[in-house]
Amino acid sequence: MTVETRLDAERSLADDVLDGLTRPFKELAPKHFYDAHGAELFDQICEQPEYYPTRAERSILVAGSADIVARTGVGELVELGSGTAEKTRVLLAAMAAAGTLTRYVPVDVTEHMVQRTAGELVEEFPGLRVEGVVGDFEQHLDAVPAPEDGVPRIVALLGGTIGNFIPGSRRSFLRSIAELLRPGVDHLLLGTDLVKDPAIIEAAYNDAAGVTAAFNRNILVVLNRELDANFDVDAFEHYAFFDREREWIEMRLRATHRMDVRLEALKLDVSFAAREELRTEISAKFTRERLAHDMAAAGLELREVLTDDDGLFALSLSARPG
Ligand code: SAH
Ligand code: TRP
Repeated sequence: MTVETRLDAERSLADDVLDGLTRPFKELAPKHFYDAHGAELFDQICEQPEYYPTRAERSILVAGSADIVARTGVGELVELGSGTAEKTRVLLAAMAAAGTLTRYVPVDVTEHMVQRTAGELVEEFPGLRVEGVVGDFEQHLDAVPAPEDGVPRIVALLGGTIGNFIPGSRRSFLRSIAELLRPGVDHLLLGTDLVKDPAIIEAAYNDAAGVTAAFNRNILVVLNRELDANFDVDAFEHYAFFDREREWIEMRLRATHRMDVRLEALKLDVSFAAREELRTEISAKFTRERLAHDMAAAGLELREVLTDDDGLFALSLSARPG
């Protein structure tokens, strides 16, 4: 097992925050949610009754993994934003059962998650090579090891993470993923949440137990700690709504009153007007057309779309025409 670190986490946070908090509409990059506590809160979100995406995606993997392995002959899995790789194990087990499993490459910004996941998986799958990358998947895909001759690869992006990109960046990101795929040999496995009754979507991002709210506010805790800032975390309310025109969820933090905040490490003062909102994340929802359109724009061919029984979520396989 190896883990290669590419990320300068401190610089990345400082640059992103300086950029985001000086914009006319303030925003923060969602990759900074996932410190140790944030990662824990995210795992708890996945277990909330309202948060259907994880259960739906898992059920698709349970029902479809053997078929995905048979169709693609996959021996190597590269997973972007791997987190705890909870659901990934279903696919790895199907690869092991088919006798094709050789290598797993988890890529994540959160160092301890890559370390932990890599360590657990070498134990769980004897003989599996795990080569982890701690890095930003928007910048460090060159750290992903080269594919091996005769070993078909799947690059997986699960959990609806692709929805966290705004549409333009989504396309360029998909294009950079496509470069990891050999035409006619490798596949992209993409998990996307589907457009549905807005009430169901909004509930998923406003769980009654308040875990999503705590997760959202945790980004301010990260800023206080890492950038020596003095956000009054409790003075920001979690706010998530479905934008019906753009068909995406927006997560925001709303200042309950007027505030001045100092980020000492950036020598930056920012002020918030009463009720001013800070955008922390979007989560785009997909239709089949949107999926096909994005893939085509990235030079990929959509080959198969699998959904759960309730039609909540989709897992799709795409490839570069070869
Ligand atoms: N794949 C898991 C986790 C999804 S949460 C699942 O489906 O449940 C999103 C994950 O992507 C987190 O682990 C987070 O640390 C990681 N992530 C977010 N932005 C990233 C970036 N720019 N580069 C690398 N990893 C990122
Ligand atoms: N990729 C997940 C999603 O879009 C991440 C997520 C779930 C999330 N709940 C959140 C991000 C709340 C920020 C705030 O569904």
